Parts: sequence; C-alpha cells; structure tokens
Amino acid sequence: MKILLTGAAGFIGSHLTEHLLSMGHTVIGYDNFDNQYDPVRKHINIHFLTTHPNFTFIQNDIRDQASLTDVLRQYRCDTVVHLAARTGVRDSVREPALCIDVNVNGTLSLLEAMRLTKVRRLVMASSSSVYGNSSAVPFREDDDANLPLSPYAMSKRSAELLAHTYHHLHGFDVACLRFFTVYGPRQRPEMAISRFTEKMYGGQPITIYGDGSTSRNYTYIYDTIMGISRSINHLKGFDLLNIGGSGAVKLSELVGIIEQAVGRKAVIDWQPNQPGDVTLTSADLHRANNRIGYLPSVQIEEGISRFVSWYRQTVLCS
Ligand SMILES: NC(=O)c1ccc[n+]([C@@H]2O[C@H](COP(=O)([O-])OP(=O)(O)OC[C@H]3O[C@@H](n4cnc5c(N)ncnc54)[C@H](O)[C@@H]3O)[C@@H](O)[C@H]2O)c1
Repeated sequence: MKILLTGAAGFIGSHLTEHLLSMGHTVIGYDNFDNQYDPVRKHINIHFLTTHPNFTFIQNDIRDQASLTDVLRQYRCDTVVHLAARTGVRDSVREPALCIDVNVNGTLSLLEAMRLTKVRRLVMASSSSVYGNSSAVPFREDDDANLPLSPYAMSKRSAELLAHTYHHLHGFDVACLRFFTVYGPRQRPEMAISRFTEKMYGGQPITIYGDGSTSRNYTYIYDTIMGISRSINHLKGFDLLNIGGSGAVKLSELVGIIEQAVGRKAVIDWQPNQPGDVTLTSADLHRANNRIGYLPSVQIEEGISRFVSWYRQTVLCS
C-alpha cells in the first residue's frame, strides 16, 4: 500500500512509520513539527527512518488542503492514516481554539483532499476521552459519547462525526480508533508516565492531581500499533473501535509500578483534580476483537519496565 501518514513524527506516528515500512508499505509522512512539545524530539523520532527508500517526509500543516491534495495525487496514495492533532486534555482547556482548529478543521481539510483525489480509505486516531465520565463501565463503542468534558474530547468526537459524514456521502471506508492512554518509548514528555519517570530519576517531587484513585486503561505502544495495522488490513464501511490495554490501573498503583522499575521512591506533591480530567477510562474490547482480531498482549508491569529501560538508555544518557 501507499500510505499517507499524518502526524508521522510524533510518538505513535514514528512507531507506526517504522512498522509499516517493515511490512513493505510505502509511507508518505506528513507533519508540521508542531511546538506543543519540543520539536527536536520529533526530529529524533524519525531521523533514522529518513534514509529508508520507501519513506518520504513532508513538513507541512494538515490545514493546508492544497498541499494535502498535491501529496495524495503526486504519490498516488491509496490509504490515509490520520494521527496529526493537538493532543492533551489540559492543553486544550488552555488553548481551545487552536485545538479545535487543528483537530476539526485539519480533519476536514484532509477529508476534502481525499474526496478531490478519490482516496477513500481512512484510519484515524480518536480517543477514549470522547466517553467523558460515562457511567457505563467498561466503555463500549455504542455508548453515548455526546457529553465531552474538554475541547480535546469535543474535537475528537467532532472528527469522528465528520468522518462518518464522508463515509455516508462519498463512500469512504473509515475506522475511527479510540486510543486509551498510550505509553512506551518516545511517549510525549507531558504525559504522566514520562513525567513521573523523569522526576523520579531527577529526585524531584511528582505532582498527582486528585487522591490517586483515578484509573486509566494504559495501552503499550506495541499493542496500539497492532490495532492500527489490523484496522488498515480490515478497513471496510464505517467503524468505531476501542484500542485499549488489558485493564484499568489506579494512579497510585501506576506510581508503585514506576517506582519499582526506576528503583526509587517517589516524593508526591498532592494537588486538586484538574478541570477536564476524567476519573476513569476502561475499554470494552469485544468489538475490536470481533472485527479485526485485536487483543492487547503487554501487561502494565512489562510495558513500564520496557519504557523505563528505554528512558534510561536514551533520555538519561543523551
Ligand atoms: N498518546 C495517547 O495516549 C493518545 C490517546 C488517545 C488519542 N491519541 C491520538 O493519537 C494521535 C497521535 O498522538 P501522539 O501521542 O503520537 O501525539 P504526538 O503529539 O506525539 O503526535 C502528533 C503529531 O501531529 C503533529 N501535528 C500537530 N499539529 C499538526 C498540524 N497542524 N499539521 C501537521 N501535523 C501536526 C505533531 O507535530 C506531532 O508530531 C493524536 O491524534 C492523538 O489525539 C493519543
């Protein structure tokens, strides 16, 4: 396949690029090195891939529809994986307009470029945040997702709805993948596991919002990549799929698992809950298993241990 991959220089995008190239696909990576976190990290994420004969990288913004149209046409892409986004709930509360512009208008720009070039296969990143504080646990894809708690969640749900519209009007095959807190090597530096690891190694206090009882379904990057890859291969019609890890983990337990891997005790700075944060994410994976044979395989202790080894070798030693 010839795949246009937006957000290719990011955490998930760089792992996906590596995987798709290893499967023999041609990848056109598209990313604007947005400065939400240090762009140098993104250059490092993909630097080692830039000499691969089947990889082309284009630095540009997904809101530039003409550029996306040219790229789809010039490289004769048949499939799009859309990961580019302004990520993060808390950043979206601080900068709602930018989040909605990139995540909603940027997605619209991509859908229009696809329509104009007759590329009709799309796998795109959504998020567990669309479920808000759903009372039904675990979260199922047919649950209502109409009460977002942050601009980020709203933007992700809006992008799903836009994609459905293009499926209906223009016959696109679409899979919207609802990722549940993804972690592993190259994880975004502002995410909890990265921050906690950095602070523990630096002997600094870690900030915990709330009382540590909030729970998250954490997904190791390998499982997320398997979910995306399987979706690409099974793409048909319109689907919403939870791509989660094997179970929910309390924040206090997560800290214990990281302490164990780092070999240091955390000093905790307790702070009140943050607006927009949800108290629990929990994934029902039956649909993803039935439709694409998805099952996560990496347990949290193993995943954290791999992440901390990578952190020690790569970030601490650089
Ligand atoms: N990491 C998670 O836990 C998680 C959870 C749920 C959903 N997601 C979704 O998965 C996708 C990838 O997330 P990630 O964790 O790899 O984030 P990331 O920030 O590392 O990657 C996103 C990439 O998009 C690029 N980008 C941002 N704005 C752009 C624009 N206007 N034009 C072109 N490129 C742009 C950034 O430069 C970055 O490289 C995102 O859509 C995110 O919302 C991630």
